[in-house]
Amino acid sequence: SADSTLSVVVVGASGDLARKKIFPALFALFYEGMLVENFQIFGYARSKMDDEAFRDTIVETLTCRIDAGEDCGKKMDTFLSRCFYQQGQYDDATDFQRLDARLSVMEGSLCSNRMFYLSIPPKVFISAAANAADQCASRTGWNRCVVEKPFGHDSASSLELSQALGKHLQEDQIYRIDHYLGKELIENLTVLRFSNLIFEPLWSRKYIRNVQVIFSEDYGTEGRGGYFDEYGIIRDVIQNHLLQIVALFAMEPPVSLEAEDIRNEKVKVLRSMKPVEMEDVILGQYTKRVSKAHTYPGYLDDDTVPQNSITPTFAAVAMFINNARWDGVPFLLKAGKALNKRGAEIRVQFRHVPGHLYRSKFGADPDAATNELVIRIQPDEAMYLKINSKVPGLGLRIENSRLDLPFHEERDRELPDAYERLLLDVVNGDKRLFIRSDELEAAWDLFTPVLHKIEELQAQPELYPYGSRGPVGAHYLGAKYNVRWGDLS
Ligand code: BG6
Repeated sequence: SADSTLSVVVVGASGDLARKKIFPALFALFYEGMLVENFQIFGYARSKMDDEAFRDTIVETLTCRIDAGEDCGKKMDTFLSRCFYQQGQYDDATDFQRLDARLSVMEGSLCSNRMFYLSIPPKVFISAAANAADQCASRTGWNRCVVEKPFGHDSASSLELSQALGKHLQEDQIYRIDHYLGKELIENLTVLRFSNLIFEPLWSRKYIRNVQVIFSEDYGTEGRGGYFDEYGIIRDVIQNHLLQIVALFAMEPPVSLEAEDIRNEKVKVLRSMKPVEMEDVILGQYTKRVSKAHTYPGYLDDDTVPQNSITPTFAAVAMFINNARWDGVPFLLKAGKALNKRGAEIRVQFRHVPGHLYRSKFGADPDAATNELVIRIQPDEAMYLKINSKVPGLGLRIENSRLDLPFHEERDRELPDAYERLLLDVVNGDKRLFIRSDELEAAWDLFTPVLHKIEELQAQPELYPYGSRGPVGAHYLGAKYNVRWGDLS
């Protein structure tokens, strides 16, 4: 509204995430008219820079989603004129006081709301949060703090972090971001389940044979090896992004769409899950591949990765939910870097049709005839259902065909990036898509024992060549539970 002002402070403004995601998302929100009229954006980081130089660093990353015309250029200029830079250390109270002073001058006598986005390494995390909260909080409006993973590296460290954060911020001020929750098709998952009569009745062990959540990237950790090596793929992607998908997929219907009701159900289902067992984990690490045209570096070829590292860049895990709805249904999660394809999908394989009426029409492979629901999160957002139908014409040939719901066609340029949706939610104080502290705790409890075991045993990852389909162990893990992994479409 006209009598309030919004200040966004991106702490860690020179980082990759800030440049690639946060500033472009803020610009997109401005472009769409979603920000209040009076706003300012501050980058905060250690390097010396003035406002102009800072603007130069972010302008390169801004794009116009809808039209690239003159109007967009003007909007960019306006946006940039509201971007400022404050140089400072993360653990220096006076630097944050300087920022506070500049903000206060700009905000004037308006009611001022402040959003802090902490996009910084774990070791400076608490001091930056403390300084933002204690030295730089608005005295007239709300203060909200967005925090990015890693939220610790196991149950104990995560709890420690939460407690330290809790000394400076109230839980309702903390927005733990998991950007997968801001993706269009993940948002759509609950709509699909709870607003269609035909899905929810099938959504249980009675009809679903297994659920697969597959994440695959066709590039390695190039340049990010330093961070990645300390975490590995389970902490980087599975314990958060993929597990969040499972929680939304498998939770009971919430009492309402209110944030607390949804998160209550997510915690409940996470707490019903069995902690992952060592024998249900396959680890992999990619190696160099030389083709005629190109040499693809192995994980260990990255200068930022310690020699002899056994950090997994691939993992497949089998998980189970011990409740009435899902008892015995394997949830198979798989994530890897430097694989043959880029994509993320949820694949729901249904049971065989009882009885044998048409089975012979499918030849030897009974799986060929089962129904499968595929939710493609990216690229090319889509949903399709594999159903059996007769090949038109004389005779009786049956084929497994697709009932298709593409979302990307014609519309893809307009689909907002996950960060846009999530940042707007922060501005609006909507916590539906953010992780509550007990959810985080439950998520860590599922993976901490096995992560410790992996470290204790110094478990060696299976090597796989860059650009391949990943370690063959994943195939055997599937077979153990009678699951054949779907191929990314
Ligand atoms: C991040 C991980 O959280 O998600 C990265 O740290 C990963 O390793 C990225 O590449 C994937 O996000 P997206 O949106 O590109 O699928």
